[in-house]
Amino acid sequence: MTIFVTGGAGYIGSHVIVELLAQGYDVVAADNFSNSKQEAVWRTRQVSGADFPFYEMDICDVDGVATILTAHEIDCVIHLAGLKAVGESVSKPLEYYSNNIVSTISLLTAMEECAVRKLIFSSSATVYSGDNEMPLSEESRTGNCTNPYGWTKFMCEQIMTDFSKAHKDFSVVLLRYFNPIGAHSSGMIGEDPQDIPNNLMPYIAQTAVGQLPSLSIFGDDYDTPDGTGVRDYIHVSDLATGHAAAVDYLDTQSGVSIFNLGTGKGASVLELVTAFEKAAGLKIPKKIVARRPGDLAVCYASTEKAKRELGWEAKKTIEDACADTWRWQQNKQRDSTHV
Ligand code: NAD
Ligand code: UFG
Repeated sequence: MTIFVTGGAGYIGSHVIVELLAQGYDVVAADNFSNSKQEAVWRTRQVSGADFPFYEMDICDVDGVATILTAHEIDCVIHLAGLKAVGESVSKPLEYYSNNIVSTISLLTAMEECAVRKLIFSSSATVYSGDNEMPLSEESRTGNCTNPYGWTKFMCEQIMTDFSKAHKDFSVVLLRYFNPIGAHSSGMIGEDPQDIPNNLMPYIAQTAVGQLPSLSIFGDDYDTPDGTGVRDYIHVSDLATGHAAAVDYLDTQSGVSIFNLGTGKGASVLELVTAFEKAAGLKIPKKIVARRPGDLAVCYASTEKAKRELGWEAKKTIEDACADTWRWQQNKQRDSTHV
């Protein structure tokens, strides 16, 4: 089976490709490098010990995508290409709506043209409304997104659902990721933010190597055991095995299926910082600041449906993720000082 991975040079895409190749799938990937580097493709090939065709291409290019789908006889697409910075989406909403929605419509157009009928989509826990009880199940209420990025995921889910209703032989799995963290255990691939990171784990890692002066903890007065925000941090390699499970699942299912990819357990900001300090053997400079607008106190997944229907569950711990992130961050640091 041959799988086309869009956004294949990105953080999650590179780990998904490693897992698919390890499981014996053929992979073809594309990315426009708007938030990644050519080097990530080279590193993914190194880690896998295998080659795969890669195209520098914008997924909004319907003809370009259709050419790939036909030339490689693609069976299934994993669509990870997209812009993902929540704050940036607030200041550049049109860029986010345009890129994330047009790329999804273009991909579906090309798939329809080439009769490719299986799709897995990178959605997010951000599609759930903020007023749900925890844990969030796939049945929890969606909508009331707090930023344009979240709305693009919500709208793409709707577009794919409508497309599937109109094409009975089309199957889609919507994967709602919780908080992906960590890096490949080789330390060869990981998250490589182009600007100052928005997310907690890359911020901790860059503070640990002195690239950033200090971590700001956004609030310690939440109704949580230590007062800091609680999230469901999932190791990116577990997330990758979740995609492989979804590929298997599509062999026997049709229509739209939705799965949370999380661990089912929450960890606080302070717990993650402490785990990282232990993994790295150093102290992270940190200060408590005001809450970040729009943040929830607690967010974690129900993982029952994924366990039951995909036969998948996360295996790695936040300690594993911290050790792997630290290895990756140190390697990056070494490379940047020696090039
Ligand atoms: P990433 O930015 O590392 O990877 C996305 C890749 O898509 C980048 O390499 C970028 O260059 C590429 N891209 C963007 N627009 C493109 C286009 N029009 N054509 C071709 N390539 C394009 O981000 P990631 O963390 O790997 O996320 C992958 C997907 O998962 C995204 O859709 C993201 O919204 C979603 N997601 C991520 C998280 C997270 O916390 N990392 C959480 C939930 C969902
Ligand atoms: N935090 C800090 N300091 C920082 C960054 C984050 O204290 O510098 C805290 C936040 O307040 C929150 C926790 O760390 O309590 C996690 O924050 P992240 O920004 O890492 O993650 P979010 O849960 O806010 O959101 C992320 C992605 C969204 C995605 C969501 C669910 O950014 O795109 O996970 O998958 F939708």
